[in-house]
Amino acid sequence: MSRNHKIAVLAGDGIGPEVMIQALEVLDVACAKFGFTVQREKCLVGGAAIDAVGSPLPQETITACKNADAILFGSVGGPKWENLAPDDQPERGALLPIRKYFGLFANLRPGVCLPALTHASPVKNELIPNGFDVLCVRELTGGIYFGKPKGRREENGDIVAFDTMIYSKSEIERICRIAFTAAMGRDKRLVSVDKANVLACSVLWREVCTEVAEDFPEVELTHLYVDNAAMQLVKQPDSFDVMVTGNLFGDILSDEMAMISGSLGMLPSASLGQQGANGLYYGMYEPSGGSAPDIAGMGIANPIAQILSVAMLLRHSLGESEAAEAIEAAVNAAIASGMRTGDLYTGEKGETKATTAEMGQAIITALSI
Ligand code: IPM
Ligand code: MN
Repeated sequence: MSRNHKIAVLAGDGIGPEVMIQALEVLDVACAKFGFTVQREKCLVGGAAIDAVGSPLPQETITACKNADAILFGSVGGPKWENLAPDDQPERGALLPIRKYFGLFANLRPGVCLPALTHASPVKNELIPNGFDVLCVRELTGGIYFGKPKGRREENGDIVAFDTMIYSKSEIERICRIAFTAAMGRDKRLVSVDKANVLACSVLWREVCTEVAEDFPEVELTHLYVDNAAMQLVKQPDSFDVMVTGNLFGDILSDEMAMISGSLGMLPSASLGQQGANGLYYGMYEPSGGSAPDIAGMGIANPIAQILSVAMLLRHSLGESEAAEAIEAAVNAAIASGMRTGDLYTGEKGETKATTAEMGQAIITALSI
């Protein structure tokens, strides 16, 4: 397999560009250390693209993404574009079309709270003495987000608006396979989250998930209703290993998970399409947190989510697992050494308050050893 790779880099808005600089420097060091190359094509996206060319997702950006092995995404959106029509806003106008266009149906959102950082979690620390490590697998191109019909009409002098929640057996099956496979590489426990006491979609979801489970006899499968799952996540997050769910529930639960993990600045994510014949996926990789306009340009944002997104990209899209592991280890080493960006800093002994660049450099130092 060739080790000369190509990615599209879409830094976007807010803190996107400044954390991207650190992530690309980490990538440079990983390339040199592990002997591969990654050519990058920088493209406009989001509000930056609206300002420059009038569209949140210009055709040139789509073309560059098509010609690449994967997309490294920063973040999009901010107050400047908040008054645009919903479909023209950077978040919806860029993210949803990219997901649909490239068929990125599997969204992996790890929610990790390192034992050293439990203080940053809003969950009572006695409930999570060892932190936790949950992987949310969210279906990303179906369900109520994209179901037709969608719209509004007049009805008896009133106005009604409607969305359609629809899932096919094949859509459920492929996302469940991804989740079971992920569970096989972890603690072999999978929770499927639905609302089968109310929704027809969820009844099918449960049936199909149970059927797929037959191919993964080692994985322990349980089902939770989404309301209960939301409660269990804050009560005992460490009881979860992998969670699989539909688009809307996954949107909500993954944000809850991100919040309880302590800092949005720590969490990467991957959105994957079909697996290729070489075992790799085309995918888009981005921090779980947003563009954080309140701290953009100040050089204090945590670059770790973006750096760990590079690690996920290396693993799932480029087949450079060794480099991915080394980057993840370097992040853990930087945290262990006491480096803390503002979102994690408490002022305790042993902590060093770090800027975006200092955190990036600490990770590079650890990676270079
Ligand atoms: C996310 C975001 C998007 C979603 C929005 C911006 C369309 O909240 O990636 O979770 O709802 O999927
Ligand atoms: Mn969301």
